[in-house]
Amino acid sequence: MPTPTPAQNTFNPASPQAAAAAAAKAAATTNTGTPGANQPAQAAPSSTASKDQAVANALREISHIATLPEITLKIVSIVEDPSSTAQDLHNVISKDPALCTRILKVVNSAFYGLPGQIGSINRAIVLLGLNAVKNIAIAASLAKLFKGGQLTPNFSAKDLWTHSIAVGTGTKLLAEQMKIGLGDEAFLAGLIHDIGIMVELQWDRNKLVEVLEKLDKAGPTADMMAIETQVFGATHQDFGSALSEKWKFPKSFTTVIGFHHRPMDVPYDQRTMAAMVFVADRLAAQIGAGFKGDTLSNPDIPADVLDMLKLTQDDLTAVKAKLPDAIKVAETVLG
Ligand SMILES: [Fe+2]
Ligand SMILES: [Fe+2]
Repeated sequence: MPTPTPAQNTFNPASPQAAAAAAAKAAATTNTGTPGANQPAQAAPSSTASKDQAVANALREISHIATLPEITLKIVSIVEDPSSTAQDLHNVISKDPALCTRILKVVNSAFYGLPGQIGSINRAIVLLGLNAVKNIAIAASLAKLFKGGQLTPNFSAKDLWTHSIAVGTGTKLLAEQMKIGLGDEAFLAGLIHDIGIMVELQWDRNKLVEVLEKLDKAGPTADMMAIETQVFGATHQDFGSALSEKWKFPKSFTTVIGFHHRPMDVPYDQRTMAAMVFVADRLAAQIGAGFKGDTLSNPDIPADVLDMLKLTQDDLTAVKAKLPDAIKVAETVLG
């Protein structure tokens, strides 16, 4: 795996823009960041500038996806504002009865581990905390973005949503296995990691079809990100991390989205969640849950990532065994 040093030189966590630019630049130079991966010839050195241009063009033209539901944006800003209170969050959420119902469905599901105990949003906030309720609210509001029919025999927005739920669930199970808490944050990080593919779908459907057809033709170890770079001038990591910034998501989510295929390029102290999503992405592919086209060239879980997370093969086996049932529960509440 690449050493983290070059990324540390370019990845400036103080600036989301710099992080996105670093992501784009690193993707241009390292592609998947996986030595030995089957990497088709990349488009002639698309410079960081042209990659940034592609990302900027995409975000400008997809205003309908680049705007989260207004209520979700409000929830994000309330929780990011240190002066806001639980009452502020309650006031916003209670204006949307459908969202209230959905949140209560999630927190009362077996998936969340408190079945049937929470009768109101206020109670959810008291028991789970502002941040957890915010993460659940965002998760509950995302499903409607993943709309669209069958694009190719191997891809639909629904397949991507199935995959996203699987990776969210896997990341949450890993957080539980690692006993680090953060289950709701882990779930949301996994749920949104491939959101850049939805940016591609919304921006230029024909180009995404071209990517997917080339992916199918390239065979079982095809490198989706190399093909995306040829066709779009940038990858779903680039598009997704830029969208996350536009949505004003916390930087930790932007990092996960921008680095989920090469978590070891993230500075050590911010790497954990990206590495967990990387692992969950591969576990989801192994059990055949939804779209997996972007992990074909790099399906294994390398020892250095597991070591970094202090996970053993037994831990992975345990998580993988729980995954299918946990996905079913998550699909019931979010699907
Ligand atoms: Fe991906
Ligand atoms: Fe994925």
